[in-house]
Amino acid sequence: MSEYALEIDGLHHRYGETKVLDNVNLRILPGQIVAIVGPSGCGKSTLLKAILGTHPPTEGKIFADGIPVTGPTRNVGIVYQNYSLYDFLTAEKNVAFGLKLDETSLFGRTVLFPKYLKKKREHLRKAREFLDQVGLEHACGKYPGEMSGGMKQRVAVAQAFIMKPKIVLLDEPFGALDEAMREELQMMLLKFYQENLIAKREGRRPNYTILMVTHELNEAIYVADRVIGMSRFHTEGDQGATIVYDRPSPVFRPEDPRDFSKFIEQREELRRAVFDEDYIKDRNKYVTFWNDLSKLAEDQSMLKANTGSAGVVGPSP
Ligand SMILES: Nc1ncnc2c1ncn2[C@@H]1O[C@H](COP(=O)(O)OP(=O)(O)O)[C@@H](O)[C@H]1O
Ligand SMILES: [Mg+2]
Repeated sequence: MSEYALEIDGLHHRYGETKVLDNVNLRILPGQIVAIVGPSGCGKSTLLKAILGTHPPTEGKIFADGIPVTGPTRNVGIVYQNYSLYDFLTAEKNVAFGLKLDETSLFGRTVLFPKYLKKKREHLRKAREFLDQVGLEHACGKYPGEMSGGMKQRVAVAQAFIMKPKIVLLDEPFGALDEAMREELQMMLLKFYQENLIAKREGRRPNYTILMVTHELNEAIYVADRVIGMSRFHTEGDQGATIVYDRPSPVFRPEDPRDFSKFIEQREELRRAVFDEDYIKDRNKYVTFWNDLSKLAEDQSMLKANTGSAGVVGPSP
């Protein structure tokens, strides 16, 4: 197992003569939930497609759990805004579908039928387990036509995670949902994060490593433990967009009040650093995640030494 769930080294992307991404470098730890924000058209989806392996970058290397990404694999999953569900399959069958494709063949499903039946039962059992994780234990037998947008999107999330990917990409996953459903899905991510923390405490690999594009700054700060901003508003912006913001963000538990006033400062910092086209700065000015992280760790151990408890809210490495 690699130290990083995802590693991107010197990634550049051009569409023909058009320079889109310029020297993107990024390392993500297992169990992190990272949000990406940036002006429309700056290349966020292009970056996700490169990580997914469907659209290789013009230049640069990508590793998922230390393994070079050269095409789509089980290591990297994705959830799109528009549900990728089959209307003629129930929720549990939709979730089990990826496993079926991956772990059985036509030969296995016909000639070795009894063996296949056993496997099928196993896949459906796992599917129910993952539907339970996304709060849909009651909806296993429902068809997409019988589910709300929020439920369908949660099925899509279960569909991605059942494959045990090293990282899951979410491209504006809640953009099509109304506010209440959006909140429900945000809660789900907060719950995932708490499960990650428990896994890490118990020395297990966390299940949920997520890189999520969103256009909502509040959502980014609220659900992620780290926010990344991409834009061209830096001194070498004519070469393409790059990561111009990379900082930790506060961690909320599902039961904490949804108090967005707590992060007004970070939101304003993000707005300026990533979205203000008049504010052209050194591209690395706000790319301080790893420094911020070691400072947080220092403060935390000081606090522990002084009070015997870890009371700082922040990402845990
Ligand atoms: N297949 C393509 N061919 C040519 N240009 C593209 C293609 N896909 C995206 N682009 C352009 O690349 C830029 C980045 O697109 P995209 O990654 O979709 O941005 P974002 O997701 O941040 O809105 C945009 O200017 C877009 O028009
Ligand atoms: Mg996009």
